[in-house]
Amino acid sequence: MRTLLLIGIGTGHPEHLTLEAVQALQRVDVFFALDKGEEKEDLVRWRSEICARHLPNRPYRFVTAPDPVRDPSVACYPERVRAWHDARAVLYEEMLLRELGESGCGGILVWGDPCLYDSTLRVLASVRVRARVTFDMRVIPGISSVQALAASHGIVLNGIGEPVLITTGRKLAAGFPRDVDSVVVMLDGACIFNQLDEDLDIFWGAYLGSPEQLLRAGRVREVGAEIAQVRAEARKRRGWVLDIYLLRRRA
Ligand SMILES: C[S@@+](CC[C@H](N)C(=O)[O-])C[C@H]1O[C@@H](n2cnc3c(N)ncnc32)[C@H](O)[C@@H]1O
Repeated sequence: MRTLLLIGIGTGHPEHLTLEAVQALQRVDVFFALDKGEEKEDLVRWRSEICARHLPNRPYRFVTAPDPVRDPSVACYPERVRAWHDARAVLYEEMLLRELGESGCGGILVWGDPCLYDSTLRVLASVRVRARVTFDMRVIPGISSVQALAASHGIVLNGIGEPVLITTGRKLAAGFPRDVDSVVVMLDGACIFNQLDEDLDIFWGAYLGSPEQLLRAGRVREVGAEIAQVRAEARKRRGWVLDIYLLRRRA
């Protein structure tokens, strides 16, 4: 039976990789990846560097396929994402059948943690449902950008005994949730925090874990505009930016 290891690799610091992840890497014969184009070149290079560093004497291969594009003509967002996942499932299925022997071990290196805002697990579930290729699967947890953010600022995400919500910029655009005080926001390309009416503190981080890491914190009304500017400049400089933030209602 083929084995597939989904390995969380953390968010850009070489030592984010857990000992369990390093051991998992050392079992892999073929690494699979979907190539997201030039914009994400740095992230692809990062994955290769991890393998070079931890597998100096072990033969392994990298197999990639171009990531399908989301079809903008599908107006409904969940439907558009589902169609994109289906296209990805077909690609993984083809790669597994073509490139991984019956008893081979495949690996997929997942940015951060595979269980948080990452589609790989859902896509592989679809591959299983299609039933053309069978495999055992294991998930190796990684340090997520949420943990990296909290650690970089040295903060606890939740108030004492209180919940914390993890959401996206797209959802936050509808307004700051009424029933929580602490909200972690990922996947926000539009600095939505600057559009909210509430009086909030922000703990913001970009390129967390990497030498280029950027951090800012303060009252949104005072530092929001500066964060938007720093973010725009960084994006221009590098061609891409990954950022995340915690918003907390002020007492
Ligand atoms: C598709 S999600 C992947 C999340 C990932 N699975 C995790 O565990 O962090 C991508 C989002 O994660 C956040 N992110 C990932 N890496 C980051 C980093 N190094 N610095 C800041 N934010 C990061 C950003 O909000 C980005 O838009």
